Amino acid sequence: MKLVFATNNAHKLREVQQTVGEAFELVSLKECGITEDIPENEPTLEGNAFVKARYIYSRTGLNCFADDTGLEVEALGGEPGVRSARYATDGHDDEANKCLLLERMEGKENRAAQFRTAMALILDGKEYLFEGIVRGKILHEQRGEGGFGYDPLFAPEGWDCSFAEMSAEDKNSISHRGRAVRKLAEFLNK
Ligand code: IMP
Repeated sequence: MKLVFATNNAHKLREVQQTVGEAFELVSLKECGITEDIPENEPTLEGNAFVKARYIYSRTGLNCFADDTGLEVEALGGEPGVRSARYATDGHDDEANKCLLLERMEGKENRAAQFRTAMALILDGKEYLFEGIVRGKILHEQRGEGGFGYDPLFAPEGWDCSFAEMSAEDKNSISHRGRAVRKLAEFLNK
């Protein structure tokens, strides 16, 4: 069965394809003819994930899923949350985002945070939601060179290193996105 995944990131597509398995052929946005940006202006991760999935479904009529992720920091009342990509600027400037996060965390003793992924699936017109969470803490300085986004500032619970210091396999085995995708895969393969 063909399933559109709301991404054009080949790495993400491959990784999710491996988890979902061969019974489903994942198709990128470009491959199904969607080249325009899909608006993501909802106030919640779930809202954005569903807006994207509904957009694809109405354009193509194909079964599809879309995700949205945010870093939720307890001492900042859940910020940057749904605005994680555009925390410091309107663009996706990882360095500026990390600097702003460190600035806002100055003097904060509570470093608890979580990454949360909302994954919206539309299958034969019915809507489903899956969630993946990984808890951890915000470090006082960047550690590691791997990963992307806030990875160098986030240490997952139970690990003595940042996401940016972990192998892609280790990160995927405990990450928010990995967890949400495995829930989706379990559901699809039931
Ligand atoms: P998206 O919904 O996957 O595009 O994620 C939105 C934003 O959250 C990204 O631009 C990153 O800043 C941040 N983010 C999402 N996933 C991760 C991750 O695994 N590590 C670090 N930052 C992430």
